[in-house]
Order: sequence, then structure tokens, then C-alpha cells
Amino acid sequence: MHQKLQNLKNEALAQIISAQSAEELEQIRIQYLGKSGQLNDIARLFKDLSPAEKSSVGLLFNDVKSAISDALSSSKLSSLKSSSPADFDPSLPGVKIALGHLHPITNAIEEISSVFEKIGFSRVRYPEVDWDWYAFESLNFPDNHPARDDWETFFVDTPARPHLGRMLLTPHTSNGQVREMERVKTPPIRMVNIAKCYRRQVDVSHTPMFHQFEGLVVDRGITVANLKGTTDYFVKTFFGPNRKSRLRPYHFQFTEPSFEVDISCGICNGHGCKLCKEGWLELGGAGMVHPNVLKAGKIDPSEYTGFAFGWGVERTYMMKSGTKIDDIRLLYSNDIRFLTQF
Ligand code: DAH
Repeated sequence: MHQKLQNLKNEALAQIISAQSAEELEQIRIQYLGKSGQLNDIARLFKDLSPAEKSSVGLLFNDVKSAISDALSSSKLSSLKSSSPADFDPSLPGVKIALGHLHPITNAIEEISSVFEKIGFSRVRYPEVDWDWYAFESLNFPDNHPARDDWETFFVDTPARPHLGRMLLTPHTSNGQVREMERVKTPPIRMVNIAKCYRRQVDVSHTPMFHQFEGLVVDRGITVANLKGTTDYFVKTFFGPNRKSRLRPYHFQFTEPSFEVDISCGICNGHGCKLCKEGWLELGGAGMVHPNVLKAGKIDPSEYTGFAFGWGVERTYMMKSGTKIDDIRLLYSNDIRFLTQF
């Protein structure tokens, strides 16, 4: 009986391979697997076998049966079965293949990088878990200075190191400033550092993790005019040619003078409306690099000057015309219904 089953399997597989149509394939199925097909004919003989024979033949029988049905269903012809013209209804809607895309913030990061690359900035990245020295101390925040509290920092529970201090989750991308000065050593420096930042804050306009992009330019003869030119260029390229930027006096430890950069409102064009009130929307901080910061990066402030800025990616993205997100936390909730809208 073993031999008989083997022969049957070989024959069936050979017929399946050489079948020319779906109808022929169906005939083969009936011939072997059908109710009065050849396999069932063999099964009927099982009752005369001894229990030992029954179990060994039974195993082979099952193998042969599944080999034949696998071959039938994987034959290319079997998928043609239902595509005869009579079965095809062209009026039915098609099946749309779902296509994924990058996260809106990843897209914003790419776009921001390319805007700055066009004017000679290089994209860099620095650690997102860094020493107090890079995030604060080298940026002209003396130890225990109250301005540190503005950054609501998460500290890592590890011992402090001499000079470097404690480890922390970077609360801003400004930690890249002195790191870039150490890497480049001799200016010119023209970097844009885009990274994750962490702060102890969460509400409709804050997530504990967010992104910033930090610009730093250091060279001979850099002035506020270069900062203003760069801000204007970014605002017009990213937000549109009709938008304007303005610098408003402010205070940061690591810049002198310091500014907040505003952009003209896209709805009222700077005249004042319900959204912006006075015609301007706040983009983020900027200023001329403080001499103490240049010194911390071993750059001579009597020879070189620089400007810097640090803006939030999420905020900047949401300010772009046409993008209205009521709750910033939605960006990181991984809800596909939200993400597919972008
Ligand atoms: N690091 C500041 C913040 O997170 C933003 C900032 C202000 C960055 C002024 C700068 C700057 O480079 O010059 O609020």
C-alpha cells in the first residue's frame, strides 16, 4: 500500500504541474481528493489492515493528501479560477493599498535641515543625555543660578564628575554650542543641531519630550545684522515669502544681547487679528554668543563673534500656515487616525 500511495502522489503532482487551465485543475482535485476519488478508494481498504500497518500507512496517507492539496492551492492556475470575465465586476470600488509615510515631525526636521543647508549650515547631532557642563555651566550659568530653574530639567541619578557635573536629559539643544566649538576648534562654525529635548512639563502645548533646532554661527565680524538676515531668510523660506521676522529684546544667560524672534502672523499679515492679537507670533530665542561661552569653547572672543538661536520644531511646524493642532500631545500619541491626516 505504501508503494501505491507514493505512485499516486507522483502522478497527481505531475498532472498538477502540467495542467493548462483552472478547470483541468478542478478535475484533478476531484480525481484525487473528491468523495469517490482515488485517495478515498485507498482509505476504504484501511479496515483490513493490522493496527501497526494502519498507523504507518495512515501517516503516509496524510502526507500524500496534504502534498496534493498544497500543490493544488499553490498552483498559479488556481488563482485564475475566479477571474473569468463573468466573475469580474468593474463597477466595484478597488482595494486601496494603504501607504505609510514619515511622521510629520520627521518631515519638519528634514525640511528645516534643508532650508539651512542651502545657506551653508551643516546638520550636527550631539548627545541627548549630557553633562551639566554642556547644558548649563559652559553656557554662562553659574552653579545654583536661579535661571537654571527655567529649564525644568530631568537629572540622571548618577554621581557628579569634577568639572562636568551631573548628567541630565538635555533640556535644550544649546548643549551643542560648546560641543561644536570643541569639534571645529577654529571658526568658521555654521551648524544646525536638531535633537530631542526633555523638560518636566506636560499640557496641551507641552510634551516632556520635544525637539529643538539650534543654529550657531561663529566667525570674524559676525553681527546682529547676520542674525537678522538669517532669521528673515528662514522665515520667508519656511513660512512663505510674505512673512517677516522681528527681534525683540530679551534675556538669556548665554547671549548678549539676547532676543526673542517673532514672525508676522500669516492670517492678518502683521496687522493684528483674533489669533495673534498684535500681528506677531513668537518663534523662539536668539542672540549674540556671550564672550564667556566662546571662552568655554576655547575660542578667543576678541577675535571672533557669533550668533545663535534655538527654536522648537513642534512649535515652528504648528505655526506653518494651514497646520492647526489643538493639542501638541497628539503628535506623540501614535494614533493612526491622527497621523494619517498628514
Ligand atoms: N536654549 C533656549 C531655550 O531652550 C533657546 C535659545 C535662546 C537658544 C537663545 C539660543 C539662543 O541659541 O541664542 O529656551
